[in-house]
Amino acid sequence: MRKFQNLLVTGGAGFIGSAFIRSAFTRPGFTGTIVNLDAMTYAGNLDNLVGLDPARHVFVHGDILDGALVERLVDTHAIDTIVHFAAESHVDRSIHGPAEFIQTNVVGTMRLLDVVRARPHVHFHHVSTDEVYGSLGFEDPMFTEEHPYKPNSPYAASKAASDHLVRSWARTYKLSATTSHASNNYGPYQFPEKLIPLMIANCLDGKPLPVYGDGGNIRDWLHVDDHAAAIWRVLEDGAPHEVYDIGGGNEWKNLALVHCLCDAVAELRGEPSEKYRALITFVADRPGHDLRYAIAGDKIARELGWRPSYDFVTGLRATIRWYVDHPEWIARVKTGAYRQWIDTNYAGRSA
Ligand code: NAD
Ligand code: TYD
Repeated sequence: MRKFQNLLVTGGAGFIGSAFIRSAFTRPGFTGTIVNLDAMTYAGNLDNLVGLDPARHVFVHGDILDGALVERLVDTHAIDTIVHFAAESHVDRSIHGPAEFIQTNVVGTMRLLDVVRARPHVHFHHVSTDEVYGSLGFEDPMFTEEHPYKPNSPYAASKAASDHLVRSWARTYKLSATTSHASNNYGPYQFPEKLIPLMIANCLDGKPLPVYGDGGNIRDWLHVDDHAAAIWRVLEDGAPHEVYDIGGGNEWKNLALVHCLCDAVAELRGEPSEKYRALITFVADRPGHDLRYAIAGDKIARELGWRPSYDFVTGLRATIRWYVDHPEWIARVKTGAYRQWIDTNYAGRSA
């Protein structure tokens, strides 16, 4: 088992990074510190990190593109492991404006790798996505780690490029690096631009539920806490240079998922499902919309003993409950009020 003490987590104020940090402090035997480097884009939110012990969670408002800052953090905090979540992560935004995706996801990853290159005792874990593999047909076998790369969106292409950088830096410069590809995550604290939180927020607001195309596209849904647990297993026992695919074993057609979600919201509020199903609105399809993602997950089960633990319908209900119980969180991210707080509290503060 790999021993690690102090982690640098990039993008730890986002959806998955914050779940990873919250859960890390509950792992038996972990006594170290987590330095959380986040540029606080629209997706970063310190509300996701409330209640953590400031002696063990050090938040730094900064950019992974700032190599000198990353070097200083690694050296000052005796970092032995970097877990790299920071990214631009939304496909629709990448279609609208790809440049930032290249900067953060590609150039940013290279900056981090160069810091590790000069400090080869530091292990690097790269958090990536199944979208690098492209799209499956309805009848195709699920993705495995051997699947060829065929990214279709600017987001997927930027993540694919970053995967290649990690692989090549690790091999050429003999770094200790692992990569994981996860399927679509869901759970609390997800920014309401991705399918599930957007649909929940719109149900709660009585707004239209925009389904792209005919709603027949398929995604494999993974609870964010299962994803965090899988990454922890990779940090503990993943072999250097290895790649692990992390899936939820939960393929759903988008329209069926939205129906299920409407029914669960209705049940929670003691109202008829029809009230919410009537909000479903079919809209123009996403350009280059991948038909299907699905992860086999055999390798991580076999080699690291990890399997998803969440049953999807139970996880979805709990997620809906969380959004119902946290209207202030949704309101703040939607109005950008948390950004004003950041600007006031972190203006001009250097790491
Ligand atoms: P997110 O958009 O919620 O969070 C990204 C975080 O990165 C934000 O806090 C943001 O402020 C920060 N960030 C962005 N640019 C930065 C920069 N230049 N420097 C420092 N911080 C920066 O994303 P997420 O959904 O939590 O995804 C995290 C990672 O997991 C990403 O690498 C993504 O590709 C990958 N992933 C996501 C999913 C999913 O379903 N959301 C699935 C598989 C893999
Ligand atoms: P999304 O959550 O953006 O994740 P990804 O594109 O990375 O898989 O979208 C999930 C699926 O839901 C995808 O097939 C696109 C579809 N979708 C809609 O139908 N309507 C929406 O408003 C959104 C955001 C997504």
